[in-house]
Amino acid sequence: MTKILSKPDYERAIAASRDQRMAWWREARFGVFVHFGLYSILGRHEWAQVQENIPAEEYAKLADSFAPKPGAPREWARLAKAAGAKYMVMTTRHHEGFSLWDSKANPFNSVNYGPHRDIVREFVDACREFDLRIGFYTSLMDWHHPDGWKCAFDNEARRRFLDYIEALNTELLTQYGKIDILWYDVARPMDNWEGWDSLARNQRLRALQPDIIINDRSLLDEDFGTPEGHVTARDRDWEACMTFNDISWGYVDEEQARAYAYTAPRILKMLNTCSHNCGNLLLNIGPKPDGSVPADAVEPLTGVGEWLARNGEAVYGAKRRCDRDRFEGGNGLCATSVSADGKTVYLWNWIWPHGGKMGLGGYFTAPKRVTLLATGQEVPFSFDGQRIVLEGLPETCPDPLGVAVIKMEFDAVPEWHVFSRYPQLNGGRSEY
Ligand code: GLC
Repeated sequence: MTKILSKPDYERAIAASRDQRMAWWREARFGVFVHFGLYSILGRHEWAQVQENIPAEEYAKLADSFAPKPGAPREWARLAKAAGAKYMVMTTRHHEGFSLWDSKANPFNSVNYGPHRDIVREFVDACREFDLRIGFYTSLMDWHHPDGWKCAFDNEARRRFLDYIEALNTELLTQYGKIDILWYDVARPMDNWEGWDSLARNQRLRALQPDIIINDRSLLDEDFGTPEGHVTARDRDWEACMTFNDISWGYVDEEQARAYAYTAPRILKMLNTCSHNCGNLLLNIGPKPDGSVPADAVEPLTGVGEWLARNGEAVYGAKRRCDRDRFEGGNGLCATSVSADGKTVYLWNWIWPHGGKMGLGGYFTAPKRVTLLATGQEVPFSFDGQRIVLEGLPETCPDPLGVAVIKMEFDAVPEWHVFSRYPQLNGGRSEY
């Protein structure tokens, strides 16, 4: 029996172990989300059941035709690895209430219906094969369970439903060995953690997996925040979850989704915002009904992986938070990430300068060494007291994706003020 702590005591206890539990996650920076379920068959958003008001019995019939091809999760893991991701999070059961594992608590599952296979097991095995950390997405809301809505106003239904939710997650956290992330979603219809009994349940679930990291969607803060659909820094550990097309998490007919799909450079922009604000990117793929990944996601992800193989040093690792963003450089317009000790600055160039020269305003310290990160090629530079000028740069961007990173190493954390020479841009004040 787990002794249940009060909320303040629980929060103190998990805060005390957080640095150790989250060390790998803070280094990882990039994960792949997978939304896969019966909605993948419909191909028109994972909320189709509710958006179209499809009766539950009718929707449930989809389970019979759910037929992921053998080895599909392995394909996801192989792609995630090639993309440079360090972990994956899969929808073990989305709001539709269909469990993708051999669940005793929920007979509406992929072993009793459709493929008659434990997709969660296949996912876990694939993650281990490709050395990816493992995350389980678990919806709190359930549109299939008879108490899934009643629980809001009928206390007995609520007790039953909470037992069901806990039984599902207990299965997930006991049947598959070490699991790294529990990723809750949509705490409805109850609207507070007391209603969901999250404090006690999460303590019991943590007792099953002491190193686990839990997100903030059971209405407790837990370990990390989850900005959704935008990459916005938080003042805590955070992970931005993004669809691949800004229209749906679940598979959407490719012809229609294509125009909205992210390109590799767009994904690099997201990773850049994450890495210089100490956050992670959880980028989603929505496999087709047979489990294969749409080409529109495969190609950009592969490009991102190749880029990370050249420039990963600017992304991975517990970076230092930095406030230099857009104004980093002159004609090069860079955005930055900074090493944990702050002495190395990585300039990501969205625009490559013409003429082989790039001025970097506002530096009060000269670097000791400047190189192109991907090749290690030295970049000559001059320094005039508040400006570094890089010289002899390649005429055109040396990176095949058009995003080249310049690495500047300093002896100490460099002093930097963007408005050093033009105090009128700083409200007339010169602080320097
Ligand atoms: C949402 C949606 C859902 C999706 C999730 C991912 O809250 O309800 O469909 O799975 O976000 O973050």
